[in-house]
Amino acid sequence: MRLKPALALLPLLAAAALPALAQATSPARLQKAYEAAADAPAQAERGRSFFISRHGAEWSCASCHGQLPVDAGRHAVTAKPIDPLAPAFNPKAFTDERRVEKWFRRNCKDVVKRECTPAEKADVLAWLQSLR
Ligand code: HEC
Repeated sequence: MRLKPALALLPLLAAAALPALAQATSPARLQKAYEAAADAPAQAERGRSFFISRHGAEWSCASCHGQLPVDAGRHAVTAKPIDPLAPAFNPKAFTDERRVEKWFRRNCKDVVKRECTPAEKADVLAWLQSLR
C-alpha cells in the first residue's frame, strides 16, 4: 500500500520536532528525580568517591572526565576532549535528560559493568554541583 504523500511525511515531521522536546531539565531537577527514585537524599562525598574509584574494571569515571571535572576531560582511548561535567563550568551539562541518561548508561557499563543506580547518579550529581 502506498501512503498518501502527506501521511508519508508524518514520521519525518515527528522526528524533526524531537530536538525541541529534548526533555530539557536542570542539574537540580535531575538530582531531585534520582533522589526520589532512590528514596534517599544524595551524598556528595559518596559521589566523589564513586567517581574517582575503579570498580573492578579498567577505568573510573575520572579516567575520562578527570579527578576534578571542572576542566575539560580527555577520553581514555581516543584522547578527544570532553566538556567539563561540573555544571558550574559547563552550562550545558545535565540540561538534556535523554542525553544524560544515554551517557550514564554507556559510561556506567564501561566502569561498573552495569547501569548506575538512581542513588549513585544522585550522589555523583550532588558532588558535581558542589564544585564551584
Ligand atoms: C571511556 C571514557 C569515559 C568514561 C570512563 C566515563 N565517561 Fe562520561 N562521558 C564520556 C564522553 C565521551 C561523554 C560525552 C561528552 C561530550 O560530548 O563532550 C560523556 C558524558 C557524560 C555525561 C553526560 C553529561 C551531559 O549532560 O552532557 C555524564 C552524566 C557522564 N558522562 C557521567 C559519567 C560517569 C558517572 C562515569 C563513571 C561511572 C563516566 N561518565 C565515565 C566518556 C566517559
